Amino acid sequence: NKRILTGITTTGTPHLGNYVGAIRPAIEASRKGDAETFFFLADMHALIKCQEPEKVRQSSKEIAATWLALGLDTNTSTFYRQSDVPEITELCWVLNCMAAKGLMNRAHAYKAAVAQNLENGEDPDFAVTMGLYSYPVLMAADILMFNASHVPVGKDQIQHVEMARDIAGRFNHHFDSLFTLPEAVVEDSVAVLQGLDGRKMSKSYNNTIPLFLPEKQLKKHINKIKTNLLEPGEPKDPDDSTVFQIWKAFATPEQTEAMRKEFENGIAWGEAKKQLFELVNGEVSEAREKYNALLEDVPAIEKVMKLGAEKARDYSAPLLAKVRKAVGIGGF
Ligand code: TYM
Repeated sequence: NKRILTGITTTGTPHLGNYVGAIRPAIEASRKGDAETFFFLADMHALIKCQEPEKVRQSSKEIAATWLALGLDTNTSTFYRQSDVPEITELCWVLNCMAAKGLMNRAHAYKAAVAQNLENGEDPDFAVTMGLYSYPVLMAADILMFNASHVPVGKDQIQHVEMARDIAGRFNHHFDSLFTLPEAVVEDSVAVLQGLDGRKMSKSYNNTIPLFLPEKQLKKHINKIKTNLLEPGEPKDPDDSTVFQIWKAFATPEQTEAMRKEFENGIAWGEAKKQLFELVNGEVSEAREKYNALLEDVPAIEKVMKLGAEKARDYSAPLLAKVRKAVGIGGF
């Protein structure tokens, strides 16, 4: 049976990339009703990148409110905070003892940090914490703890899901076949949504368009999307344009074809951006109101998270008991 699971790290405000890459496909999948769904706030992962408690807390509230405002049904889905499920971190230790160090050496986030250090003439491991190094093992624990079969993510996370699969295989082979081998599900059209500067939209590049910006701000951000210098009337290449790429992520196939023609006919950048604003705003404006209302009532969000954690632990506690037994720890 199909189990879908995905999480978002609680650093920063959710942006259009998180929405089209992970949240929207996840909620759509949960509505199909052919799978059990697990969605969570990866607040333990947040500590890897952010040591400012107020920021982590604020981001957790915003990300929780985002899922709820977008209509996630917490009766049919299990929605929880990673740190409320202690079985995950216990499993993480067990998996740490299974995961090959050589595998972790190849993880993107760690490699990027080392490359940056070398470029700056620093020691390769300068400011690299064990948290960063074993980030993929905690992510494997998130996934394996719930026997997830499908993990909807953006392209940047595929490697981590493959590592989870590798670690699960090792465990199953060595001890007992307790874990489902997960696979990443990536929506091709939006595998990597571009940000304002044309690079991948990412909190770390500071090029994001937050999902629930007030209307005026949203318009301002969209106007800041980098474009080339072509004038109105000059044909524009849609496949080389961030404006078009974001359009595609929000439009129907017919709307996408129509915009492609407009590009070829030389639509002015100002006009293309105006239409993009209207399209994105149309999709998010209703949820934006709910989001703002939810953030006014944090105790209500907290209640949802607590109930979600109880539901999650109904799954994680029995599986962790089996893991403990399989590896030989705990009661005799
Ligand atoms: P995070 O918080 O960086 O991103 C959350 C999700 O958003 C996707 N995403 C994008 N998709 C398309 N275009 C973009 N520009 C873009 N930017 C971000 C990410 O691919 C991701 O799906 N380690 C994970 C969180 C996590 C997790 C897990 C995910 C922890 N445990 C278990 C799945 C399963 C992360 O940092 O994602």
